[in-house]
Amino acid sequence: MADNSSALPKRIAVIGAGTMGNGIAQVFAAHGVATVLCDVSDEAVQRGVAAIGKSLDRFVKKETITAAQKDAILGRIAPVTDVADAVGGVDLVVEAVFENLDVKTKLFRTADAAAPAAAILASNTSSISITALAAATKRPAQVIGMHFMNPVPIMKLVEVIRGQDTSDATCATVMAASQALGKVPVEAQDYPGFISNRVLMPMINEAAFCLMEGVSTREGIDEIMKLGMSHPMGPLTLADFIGLDVCVNILDVLKDGLGDDKYRACPLLRRMVAAGHLGRKTGRGFYEYT
Ligand code: CAA
Repeated sequence: MADNSSALPKRIAVIGAGTMGNGIAQVFAAHGVATVLCDVSDEAVQRGVAAIGKSLDRFVKKETITAAQKDAILGRIAPVTDVADAVGGVDLVVEAVFENLDVKTKLFRTADAAAPAAAILASNTSSISITALAAATKRPAQVIGMHFMNPVPIMKLVEVIRGQDTSDATCATVMAASQALGKVPVEAQDYPGFISNRVLMPMINEAAFCLMEGVSTREGIDEIMKLGMSHPMGPLTLADFIGLDVCVNILDVLKDGLGDDKYRACPLLRRMVAAGHLGRKTGRGFYEYT
Protein backbone atom coordinates (compact mmCIF):
# COMPACT_ATOMS: atom_id res chain seq x y z
CA MET A 1 0.00 0.00 0.00
CA ALA A 2 1.30 3.49 -0.85
CA ASP A 3 2.45 5.57 2.13
CA ASN A 4 0.40 8.75 1.91
CA SER A 5 1.07 9.86 5.50
CA SER A 6 2.75 13.03 4.19
CA ALA A 7 -0.77 14.20 3.23
CA LEU A 8 -1.68 14.29 6.92
CA PRO A 9 -1.48 17.52 8.91
CA LYS A 10 1.31 17.59 11.54
CA ARG A 11 -0.92 19.03 14.24
CA ILE A 12 -4.66 19.47 14.47
CA ALA A 13 -7.27 20.76 16.89
CA VAL A 14 -10.67 19.16 17.29
CA ILE A 15 -13.18 21.47 18.94
CA GLY A 16 -15.94 19.55 20.71
CA ALA A 17 -15.21 16.28 22.55
CA GLY A 18 -18.64 14.66 22.11
CA THR A 19 -19.29 11.49 20.11
CA MET A 20 -18.20 12.93 16.77
CA GLY A 21 -15.35 15.08 18.11
CA ASN A 22 -13.74 12.33 20.13
CA GLY A 23 -14.09 9.90 17.22
CA ILE A 24 -12.39 12.38 14.88
CA ALA A 25 -9.58 13.03 17.40
CA GLN A 26 -9.11 9.26 17.77
CA VAL A 27 -8.72 8.70 14.04
CA PHE A 28 -6.16 11.49 13.58
CA ALA A 29 -4.17 10.45 16.68
CA ALA A 30 -4.24 6.82 15.51
CA HIS A 31 -2.53 8.01 12.32
CA GLY A 32 0.28 9.72 14.22
CA VAL A 33 -1.07 13.27 14.20
CA ALA A 34 -0.51 15.47 17.29
CA THR A 35 -4.10 16.18 18.28
CA VAL A 36 -5.50 18.83 20.59
CA LEU A 37 -8.98 17.99 21.88
CA CYS A 38 -10.93 20.97 23.18
CA ASP A 39 -14.26 21.33 24.98
CA VAL A 40 -15.78 23.83 27.39
CA SER A 41 -14.80 22.03 30.62
CA ASP A 42 -12.16 19.59 31.84
CA GLU A 43 -14.95 17.15 32.59
CA ALA A 44 -16.26 17.27 29.01
CA VAL A 45 -12.78 16.74 27.51
CA GLN A 46 -12.02 13.91 29.93
CA ARG A 47 -15.31 12.22 28.98
CA GLY A 48 -14.17 12.43 25.36
CA VAL A 49 -10.74 10.97 26.17
CA ALA A 50 -12.39 8.15 28.16
CA ALA A 51 -14.64 7.35 25.16
CA ILE A 52 -11.53 7.17 22.95
CA GLY A 53 -9.93 4.79 25.46
CA LYS A 54 -13.02 2.54 25.34
CA SER A 55 -13.09 2.52 21.55
CA LEU A 56 -9.37 1.70 21.40
CA ASP A 57 -9.95 -1.14 23.89
CA ARG A 58 -12.16 -2.78 21.24
CA PHE A 59 -9.26 -2.70 18.78
CA VAL A 60 -6.86 -4.05 21.45
CA LYS A 61 -9.30 -6.87 22.20
CA LYS A 62 -9.45 -7.76 18.50
CA GLU A 63 -5.62 -7.50 18.37
CA THR A 64 -5.83 -4.86 15.65
CA ILE A 65 -3.58 -2.72 17.85
CA THR A 66 -1.46 -3.49 20.94
CA ALA A 67 -1.95 -2.03 24.41
CA ALA A 68 1.27 -0.03 23.85
CA GLN A 69 -0.15 1.41 20.61
CA LYS A 70 -3.32 2.37 22.46
CA ASP A 71 -1.22 4.26 25.03
CA ALA A 72 0.78 5.96 22.25
CA ILE A 73 -2.46 7.10 20.54
CA LEU A 74 -3.84 8.48 23.81
CA GLY A 75 -0.45 10.13 24.42
CA ARG A 76 -0.86 12.12 21.19
CA ILE A 77 -4.09 13.69 22.43
CA ALA A 78 -3.71 16.91 24.42
CA PRO A 79 -6.85 17.96 26.33
CA VAL A 80 -7.55 21.71 26.53
CA THR A 81 -10.51 23.94 27.36
CA ASP A 82 -9.67 27.17 25.51
CA VAL A 83 -10.31 27.44 21.78
CA ALA A 84 -7.66 30.10 21.13
CA ASP A 85 -5.05 27.94 22.93
CA ALA A 86 -6.23 24.83 21.08
CA VAL A 87 -5.76 26.22 17.58
CA GLY A 88 -2.30 27.80 18.10
CA GLY A 89 0.27 26.19 15.79
CA VAL A 90 -2.13 23.78 14.07
CA ASP A 91 -2.47 23.02 10.34
CA LEU A 92 -6.12 22.01 10.57
CA VAL A 93 -9.03 22.74 12.89
CA VAL A 94 -12.03 20.40 12.86
CA GLU A 95 -15.05 21.85 14.60
CA ALA A 96 -17.50 19.27 15.98
CA VAL A 97 -19.68 21.12 18.48
CA PHE A 98 -23.48 20.81 18.59
CA GLU A 99 -25.53 22.04 15.64
CA ASN A 100 -26.17 25.70 16.41
CA LEU A 101 -25.32 28.41 13.88
CA ASP A 102 -24.57 31.12 16.47
CA VAL A 103 -22.28 28.88 18.52
CA LYS A 104 -20.43 27.66 15.43
CA THR A 105 -20.13 31.16 13.93
CA LYS A 106 -18.61 32.50 17.15
CA LEU A 107 -16.24 29.58 17.28
CA PHE A 108 -15.10 30.07 13.68
CA ARG A 109 -14.46 33.75 14.44
CA THR A 110 -12.29 32.83 17.44
CA ALA A 111 -10.45 30.10 15.55
CA ASP A 112 -9.86 32.44 12.60
CA ALA A 113 -8.29 35.05 14.88
CA ALA A 114 -6.03 32.58 16.72
CA ALA A 115 -5.05 29.89 14.19
CA PRO A 116 -1.99 30.23 11.91
CA ALA A 117 -2.76 32.07 8.65
CA ALA A 118 -2.20 28.91 6.61
CA ALA A 119 -4.48 26.68 8.71
CA ILE A 120 -7.64 25.17 7.23
CA LEU A 121 -10.82 25.51 9.27
CA ALA A 122 -13.16 22.55 8.78
CA SER A 123 -16.59 21.85 10.22
CA ASN A 124 -18.10 18.43 10.88
CA THR A 125 -21.57 19.96 10.59
CA SER A 126 -24.30 17.74 9.17
CA SER A 127 -26.61 20.57 8.16
CA ILE A 128 -25.22 24.08 8.67
CA SER A 129 -24.05 26.05 5.64
CA ILE A 130 -20.27 25.95 5.17
CA THR A 131 -20.57 29.21 3.24
CA ALA A 132 -22.20 30.91 6.26
CA LEU A 133 -19.41 29.69 8.56
CA ALA A 134 -16.76 30.80 6.06
CA ALA A 135 -18.34 34.27 5.92
CA ALA A 136 -17.61 34.67 9.66
CA THR A 137 -13.87 34.40 8.91
CA LYS A 138 -11.25 36.32 6.95
CA ARG A 139 -10.17 33.12 5.18
CA PRO A 140 -13.26 31.80 3.35
CA ALA A 141 -11.05 30.02 0.80
CA GLN A 142 -9.67 27.89 3.65
CA VAL A 143 -13.03 26.90 5.16
CA ILE A 144 -14.55 23.54 4.26
CA GLY A 145 -16.91 20.82 5.51
CA MET A 146 -15.40 17.57 6.74
CA HIS A 147 -18.43 15.49 7.63
CA PHE A 148 -17.49 12.21 9.32
CA MET A 149 -20.03 9.48 10.04
CA ASN A 150 -20.81 7.88 13.40
CA PRO A 151 -19.05 5.69 14.61
CA VAL A 152 -16.09 7.62 13.21
CA PRO A 153 -13.41 4.96 13.83
CA ILE A 154 -15.43 2.44 11.77
CA MET A 155 -17.24 4.36 9.05
CA LYS A 156 -15.25 4.90 5.86
CA LEU A 157 -16.93 8.01 4.49
CA VAL A 158 -15.89 11.64 4.82
CA GLU A 159 -18.31 13.94 3.01
CA VAL A 160 -16.16 16.90 1.93
CA ILE A 161 -18.27 20.01 1.43
CA ARG A 162 -17.12 22.94 -0.63
CA GLY A 163 -18.49 26.31 0.41
CA GLN A 164 -19.07 29.11 -2.09
CA ASP A 165 -15.46 30.32 -1.80
CA THR A 166 -13.57 27.16 -0.79
CA SER A 167 -10.41 26.99 -2.91
CA ASP A 168 -9.33 24.01 -5.00
CA ALA A 169 -6.15 23.83 -2.90
CA THR A 170 -8.12 23.56 0.38
CA CYS A 171 -10.35 20.90 -1.10
CA ALA A 172 -7.37 18.91 -2.45
CA THR A 173 -5.58 19.07 0.94
CA VAL A 174 -8.64 17.82 2.84
CA MET A 175 -9.39 15.08 0.30
CA ALA A 176 -5.78 13.84 0.53
CA ALA A 177 -5.73 14.02 4.34
CA SER A 178 -8.99 12.04 4.53
CA GLN A 179 -7.51 9.35 2.29
CA ALA A 180 -4.38 9.23 4.42
CA LEU A 181 -6.69 8.53 7.41
CA GLY A 182 -7.91 5.43 5.57
CA LYS A 183 -11.23 7.08 4.74
CA VAL A 184 -12.98 7.58 1.43
CA PRO A 185 -13.69 11.27 0.83
CA VAL A 186 -16.57 12.25 -1.44
CA GLU A 187 -17.04 15.84 -2.55
CA ALA A 188 -20.38 17.63 -2.23
CA GLN A 189 -21.50 21.17 -2.88
CA ASP A 190 -22.88 23.35 -0.11
CA TYR A 191 -26.65 22.92 -0.36
CA PRO A 192 -28.93 22.03 2.59
CA GLY A 193 -28.19 18.58 3.99
CA PHE A 194 -25.37 18.12 1.43
CA ILE A 195 -25.79 14.59 0.03
CA SER A 196 -25.79 12.29 3.07
CA ASN A 197 -28.63 13.88 4.99
CA ARG A 198 -30.61 15.01 1.96
CA VAL A 199 -30.98 11.36 1.03
CA LEU A 200 -30.95 9.74 4.49
CA MET A 201 -33.40 11.98 6.36
CA PRO A 202 -36.34 11.60 3.94
CA MET A 203 -35.94 7.82 4.33
CA ILE A 204 -35.98 8.02 8.13
CA ASN A 205 -38.92 10.45 7.97
CA GLU A 206 -40.90 8.12 5.69
CA ALA A 207 -40.22 5.22 8.06
CA ALA A 208 -41.68 7.34 10.89
CA PHE A 209 -44.76 8.10 8.72
CA CYS A 210 -45.14 4.34 8.03
CA LEU A 211 -45.10 3.67 11.77
CA MET A 212 -47.51 6.54 12.51
CA GLU A 213 -49.95 5.32 9.85
CA GLY A 214 -49.76 1.72 11.08
CA VAL A 215 -48.29 0.35 7.85
CA SER A 216 -46.18 -1.94 10.02
CA THR A 217 -44.55 -2.26 13.42
CA ARG A 218 -41.16 -0.67 14.24
CA GLU A 219 -39.57 -4.12 13.88
CA GLY A 220 -41.35 -4.77 10.58
CA ILE A 221 -40.19 -1.48 9.06
CA ASP A 222 -36.60 -2.02 10.21
CA GLU A 223 -36.48 -5.66 9.06
CA ILE A 224 -37.72 -4.71 5.57
CA MET A 225 -34.87 -2.25 5.13
CA LYS A 226 -32.24 -4.49 6.75
CA LEU A 227 -33.04 -7.67 4.90
CA GLY A 228 -34.49 -6.19 1.73
CA MET A 229 -31.98 -3.42 1.16
CA SER A 230 -28.96 -4.68 3.12
CA HIS A 231 -28.88 -1.68 5.45
CA PRO A 232 -26.83 -2.49 8.59
CA MET A 233 -29.51 -0.87 10.75
CA GLY A 234 -33.18 -0.29 10.01
CA PRO A 235 -34.20 3.39 9.64
CA LEU A 236 -35.93 3.61 13.03
CA THR A 237 -32.94 2.05 14.83
CA LEU A 238 -30.68 4.42 12.91
CA ALA A 239 -32.86 7.40 13.89
CA ASP A 240 -32.45 6.39 17.55
CA PHE A 241 -28.69 6.10 16.98
CA ILE A 242 -28.48 9.59 15.41
CA GLY A 243 -30.94 11.21 17.85
CA LEU A 244 -34.54 12.08 16.98
CA ASP A 245 -33.96 15.75 17.83
CA VAL A 246 -31.06 15.83 15.36
CA CYS A 247 -33.26 14.21 12.68
CA VAL A 248 -36.05 16.78 13.17
CA ASN A 249 -33.52 19.61 13.14
CA ILE A 250 -32.01 18.41 9.85
CA LEU A 251 -35.47 17.94 8.29
CA ASP A 252 -36.30 21.55 9.25
CA VAL A 253 -33.06 22.70 7.59
CA LEU A 254 -33.99 20.77 4.42
CA LYS A 255 -37.56 22.14 4.38
CA ASP A 256 -36.51 25.75 5.00
CA GLY A 257 -33.39 25.69 2.85
CA LEU A 258 -34.90 23.92 -0.15
CA GLY A 259 -38.37 25.46 0.31
CA ASP A 260 -40.17 22.18 -0.25
CA ASP A 261 -42.84 20.70 2.04
CA LYS A 262 -41.81 17.19 1.06
CA TYR A 263 -39.19 17.48 3.80
CA ARG A 264 -41.73 18.26 6.57
CA ALA A 265 -40.91 16.27 9.70
CA CYS A 266 -43.35 13.49 10.56
CA PRO A 267 -45.65 14.57 13.46
CA LEU A 268 -44.74 11.36 15.31
CA LEU A 269 -41.05 12.34 15.23
CA ARG A 270 -41.90 15.79 16.60
CA ARG A 271 -44.14 14.31 19.29
CA MET A 272 -41.40 11.95 20.44
CA VAL A 273 -38.91 14.82 20.61
CA ALA A 274 -41.43 16.87 22.62
CA ALA A 275 -41.74 13.94 25.04
CA GLY A 276 -37.95 13.79 25.44
CA HIS A 277 -37.70 10.38 23.77
CA LEU A 278 -34.64 11.29 21.72
CA GLY A 279 -33.27 7.79 21.05
CA ARG A 280 -30.28 6.00 22.53
CA LYS A 281 -28.94 9.04 24.34
CA THR A 282 -32.06 9.31 26.53
CA GLY A 283 -32.61 5.54 26.83
CA ARG A 284 -35.80 5.67 24.78
CA GLY A 285 -36.74 6.48 21.22
CA PHE A 286 -38.47 4.12 18.79
CA TYR A 287 -36.89 1.39 20.96
CA GLU A 288 -35.92 1.17 24.62
CA TYR A 289 -32.26 1.01 25.70
CA THR A 290 -30.96 -0.09 29.06
N1 CAA B 1 -15.10 2.11 18.15
C1 CAA B 1 -14.45 1.02 17.75
N2 CAA B 1 -15.07 -0.05 17.19
C2 CAA B 1 -16.41 0.02 17.05
C3 CAA B 1 -17.16 1.14 17.44
C4 CAA B 1 -16.44 2.23 18.02
N3 CAA B 1 -17.06 3.35 18.43
N4 CAA B 1 -18.47 0.90 17.17
C5 CAA B 1 -18.53 -0.31 16.60
N5 CAA B 1 -17.29 -0.86 16.53
C6 CAA B 1 -16.90 -2.14 15.94
C7 CAA B 1 -17.22 -3.33 16.82
O1 CAA B 1 -16.17 -3.60 17.73
C8 CAA B 1 -17.36 -4.43 15.78
O2 CAA B 1 -16.09 -4.90 15.37
P1 CAA B 1 -15.90 -6.39 14.75
O3 CAA B 1 -16.93 -6.56 13.66
O4 CAA B 1 -14.51 -6.38 14.22
O5 CAA B 1 -16.13 -7.30 15.91
C9 CAA B 1 -17.96 -3.70 14.59
O6 CAA B 1 -17.67 -2.32 14.76
C10 CAA B 1 -19.43 -3.91 14.50
O7 CAA B 1 -20.03 -3.49 15.74
P2 CAA B 1 -21.08 -4.36 16.56
O8 CAA B 1 -20.78 -5.82 16.40
O9 CAA B 1 -21.14 -3.79 17.93
O10 CAA B 1 -22.49 -4.03 15.93
P3 CAA B 1 -22.97 -3.97 14.45
O11 CAA B 1 -22.44 -5.09 13.63
O12 CAA B 1 -24.42 -3.72 14.53
O13 CAA B 1 -22.28 -2.64 13.86
C11 CAA B 1 -22.43 -0.36 13.40
C12 CAA B 1 -22.47 -1.41 14.49
C13 CAA B 1 -21.01 -0.25 12.85
C14 CAA B 1 -22.79 0.95 14.11
C15 CAA B 1 -23.43 -0.75 12.27
O14 CAA B 1 -24.67 -1.08 12.82
C16 CAA B 1 -23.62 0.33 11.25
O15 CAA B 1 -22.82 0.51 10.36
N6 CAA B 1 -24.74 1.08 11.39
C17 CAA B 1 -25.05 2.20 10.52
C18 CAA B 1 -24.29 3.39 11.01
C19 CAA B 1 -24.60 4.60 10.20
O16 CAA B 1 -25.42 4.62 9.30
N7 CAA B 1 -23.93 5.67 10.57
C20 CAA B 1 -24.17 6.95 9.94
C21 CAA B 1 -25.13 7.70 10.78
S1 CAA B 1 -25.46 9.27 10.09
C22 CAA B 1 -24.20 10.23 10.64
O17 CAA B 1 -23.33 9.84 11.35
C23 CAA B 1 -24.13 11.61 10.13
C24 CAA B 1 -25.27 12.51 10.25
O18 CAA B 1 -25.10 13.61 9.78
C25 CAA B 1 -26.56 12.25 10.93
